[in-house]
Amino acid sequence: MSQRITVEEIIAKKKTGEKITVLTAYDYAFALLIDKSGIDIVLVGDSLANVGLGLDSTLDVGMTEMIHHAKAVNRGVKYALVVGDMPYEAYQIDVFKAVENAKRFVDEAGCDAIKLEWFDQCLEVAEMVIAQGIPVMGHVGLTPQTAEKLGGFKVQGKDAESAKKIIENAKALEAKGCFCVVLECVPFSLAEIITKELNIPTIGIGAGVYCDGQVLVTNDILGLYDRHSPKFVKKYVDLSEAALKAITQFRDEVKSCKFPDIEHSYSMSIEEINRVRELEK
Ligand code: KIV
Repeated sequence: MSQRITVEEIIAKKKTGEKITVLTAYDYAFALLIDKSGIDIVLVGDSLANVGLGLDSTLDVGMTEMIHHAKAVNRGVKYALVVGDMPYEAYQIDVFKAVENAKRFVDEAGCDAIKLEWFDQCLEVAEMVIAQGIPVMGHVGLTPQTAEKLGGFKVQGKDAESAKKIIENAKALEAKGCFCVVLECVPFSLAEIITKELNIPTIGIGAGVYCDGQVLVTNDILGLYDRHSPKFVKKYVDLSEAALKAITQFRDEVKSCKFPDIEHSYSMSIEEINRVRELEK
């Protein structure tokens, strides 16, 4: 635990210009792999709802599932900073539940920080959580938990007025003490302005190259999600294809008695098996 990168080290990367890398994880196996790769931040995203649990909306995932998965991720991560993504029910229904739920991510699951999506009372919530010593990652632009209010899942801040609002929200989160801000689905030129105007790092997802760091959903980059994939997703490998091939081969080999072969079976001495046969008579 003590070897994990700190929020101060993440903030310092903005000054050095070293890009910050962030990927999501929802279980032990992928947490281990991502951590081994040297990724800076592992986000236990509420995208768990879609890519991990097959639900239609992130609104359908709650604290019970998030804590369960965050615990598994924390067991696998030694070096990265682990951020627990607060699900909608944890802070947007009753803001006074926010601190209690943020503490669960840290104390119960072992996370180092939490993430909050922008909504009407986001600043109050961020302030209360930060006052308890829990680092907060903000999230502005397209905020999936309130996407309906934003006109659906589409690029945000394309006109000057809405762009100004996003800049103000990001600055307000910085003023409250957030250690970084996710910019989701905004034009790259707007992300460039926000990145220049903030002293804390911006982490882009569909926000172009000028952000201080980038985040993507791991299942998307590995080709492990079969549903809609936005323009900003880059699929680095199609693991579904490789996995399906292996699963089909297993199925075929079991059906044809090719598996298990002797290499994958245990043996015992002839004498002992003969004694067993005698005893069974
Ligand atoms: O839940 C999630 O995966 C996110 C992203 C920023 C990728 O919030």
